Amino acid sequence: MFELDKFVSKSSKAGVLYPCNHFALGWKTPGLHRMMGNEMTVSPSPKVVEAVKAIADKLNWYPEDILTDDNLREHLADYVGLPGKANYITCGNGSMEIIDMLYESFINEGDEIIVSTPDYTLYTNRAKLYGAEVKGVYPKDQNFTYEPEDFTSLVGPKTKMILVSRPNNPDGHFVSRDLIKALLDTEVLVCIDEAYYEFGEDPIDAMIEEYPNLIISHTFSKAMGLAGIRLGWIVARPELIDAVNKVRQSCNVNLVAHTAAIAAIDDREYIKANVARIIADRQLFFDAMAAIPGLRPIPSASNFVMVDTLESGIKASDIQKHLLENGYLVRNWIDSRGLPGDRFFRVTIGTHEETVAVIELIQAFCQK
Ligand SMILES: Cc1ncc(COP(=O)(O)O)c(C=O)c1O
Repeated sequence: MFELDKFVSKSSKAGVLYPCNHFALGWKTPGLHRMMGNEMTVSPSPKVVEAVKAIADKLNWYPEDILTDDNLREHLADYVGLPGKANYITCGNGSMEIIDMLYESFINEGDEIIVSTPDYTLYTNRAKLYGAEVKGVYPKDQNFTYEPEDFTSLVGPKTKMILVSRPNNPDGHFVSRDLIKALLDTEVLVCIDEAYYEFGEDPIDAMIEEYPNLIISHTFSKAMGLAGIRLGWIVARPELIDAVNKVRQSCNVNLVAHTAAIAAIDDREYIKANVARIIADRQLFFDAMAAIPGLRPIPSASNFVMVDTLESGIKASDIQKHLLENGYLVRNWIDSRGLPGDRFFRVTIGTHEETVAVIELIQAFCQK
């Protein structure tokens, strides 16, 4: 009798599926307003669309591998303020794949990884495949802020990496430059996931020159409005990049992603205009939530706002359901991701019209 169990690897046994039901619902429900995954809810720049169409008749060819793709790497280096530093860059099929690439490059069984809690689920889920232990650091206060010692006190001989998103997903807070310096001074690898950095302030990419243990992760999925192309990239000193390239699969950036990425960076005005509008609407949404008795929006440096419903006595899941019934998909958590109870929901800031519609639906629901 075939005994599958004998053949399944340790990694596969340790693996956990990451349900992407929200993406499925978005694709399968025409007209649904997808304000759950922190994507941009408008189409990419017309110049990106044009460039992708223009490459369609060349899709019979393999793309160039990122190692020789100077044009893309130079665009990326330039975008983060490191012009001419193509050798400080490598890419993944989304920053989801980057997490795996970093773990595969630097993590051995029994190593420890320190993450903030809450933070992006995949940091913890994927660590299981590499036999690492994840230590969570819990915030100091209701606005999800941290002190450097909250992290540094956990660093021990087995610690290999500290991994933090900045701004944080899901709460939107922004760890300070001083906190990052304190993490870097511990001399373990520090990975700062700047998936949402265009919506915040104080980019830290230039610190790469000073710190050989710093890795910064970026993505095309958020401010760039290109979640569908699956392209993420990291910035780090060339020695670290070389180590990551050794585990990276060849040609992992497809030709459509390569083309769209270059066109998007060449049209930075489009990105900047979207970001400026989202920041204004983020404030509008924050103020509207703060004005509803018992709701507490968490200050956010990102393209979403998380709201705590505790004092209103209203369940976050009831707000989520009400919005969904009206065609707006947002996120909520019940006792998961380090968020206790049924009191937190998160809204991706969409178009101005979508944001206003969600505000009005929540206001009406909470008045009942
Ligand atoms: C903090 C953070 N990192 C990474 C990702 C995944 O990004 P990508 O689409 O580049 O895989 C997300 C997506 O929501 C995120 O919130």
